[in-house]
Amino acid sequence: MPNISARAAQAPASPIRRLVPLADEAKRRGKKVYHLNIGQPDIPTPEPFLRGIRGAPVEVIAYSPSPGMREAVEAMRAYYAEWGIDLSPDELIITQGGSEAVLFALNVVCDPGDEVLVPEPFYPNYNGFARLAEVEIVPITTHRREGFHLPPREEIERLITPRTRAILFSNPGNPTGVVYTEAEMEMLVEIALEHDLFLVADEVYREFVYQGRHVSVLSFPEIRDRAILVDSISKRLSACGARIGVFASRNPQVMDGARRCAMARLSPPTLEQYGLIAFMADPRHREIVAEMVDEYRRRRAVLCRELGKIPGIVFREPEGAFYVMLGLPVEDAEGFVKFMLTDFPGEETVMLAPGQGFYRTPGLGRDEARIAYVLNVDDLVRACSLLREGLELYQEVEERVRG
Ligand SMILES: Cc1ncc(COP(=O)(O)O)c(C=O)c1O
Repeated sequence: MPNISARAAQAPASPIRRLVPLADEAKRRGKKVYHLNIGQPDIPTPEPFLRGIRGAPVEVIAYSPSPGMREAVEAMRAYYAEWGIDLSPDELIITQGGSEAVLFALNVVCDPGDEVLVPEPFYPNYNGFARLAEVEIVPITTHRREGFHLPPREEIERLITPRTRAILFSNPGNPTGVVYTEAEMEMLVEIALEHDLFLVADEVYREFVYQGRHVSVLSFPEIRDRAILVDSISKRLSACGARIGVFASRNPQVMDGARRCAMARLSPPTLEQYGLIAFMADPRHREIVAEMVDEYRRRRAVLCRELGKIPGIVFREPEGAFYVMLGLPVEDAEGFVKFMLTDFPGEETVMLAPGQGFYRTPGLGRDEARIAYVLNVDDLVRACSLLREGLELYQEVEERVRG
């Protein structure tokens, strides 16, 4: 049998999904698993969006234009205009989720062997996209004690080489919950200008902000030709399976490159674009998202309160998105996550995402895990109590191993 490519063979498995077979096995044994490991919201997709899909005026589910249907592009333009960002129709395209927009961004700005700086811990799928684009991720290490804010400018500049093409970051951050301040965004803008780099901002959590203010990469006129926005409705419309995202830039060459990538994959999903159009036409669309964000604000408060009761857990209140990165009082967080799925007694358990997979630098994140607060408040309270019990038991296990 011929070998598969090294690119495919070495593409990293998602650390978030890797332990799912253990969770499936636990469920087969009859256990209830509280999934705090994956950013799949439990909130119903808004009715106007579903109505748009159900009522889609089609007899054939045809390809849509590859940059997206004109009305869908208009719906997104209207959305950004509401947030003070004016884009012309040829400055954005509809993508198959934010994921495809990240992949397009890497392919548009990088050649194979080029480097992209990414603050770590970062969204692990960036590894897979970088691998496919044959791009090297160079981590900018950030720390829990600093709320995962950026290090000083010199520390970032030290990582820049002649192959560096861009800085890619998620803001608000997954898994960190960081929301970059205006000063941090200005620093990134200055670095981009000085070192001739693109800034690729993944703003899929742009409305999930509880502390501070979100500053979009598109709000700096001085980097009109360097800023690329990645966006998605997956989270803010609780429509992860709709696969609707956005790639936006004011640089015509960048947009030309993105449109070529888009042509190669023909079309974003047709029915879901009708969902988007109907949603944006609903006069309550802003309120609906704001209500959803309020629900996450409540969850965040409850989660932080409950986590605060668990001895040894260290964390900073997340400023945005719906994740919190925890320092756990164990040596091996992945061992703990596995233990919770395989050996934790009782009828219920919790699944977290082990921290290591969010880092590029070997050894970092070993005692960390990410929680996605995508469950209702009662489930969060219960999950925290299981977490507390689990930690006590697992600490005894580690103690025994140490002898
Ligand atoms: C930071 C970040 N970017 C992109 C994505 C992918 O989003 P989409 O579902 O739009 O592909 C996610 C999903 O969790 C994410 O957390």
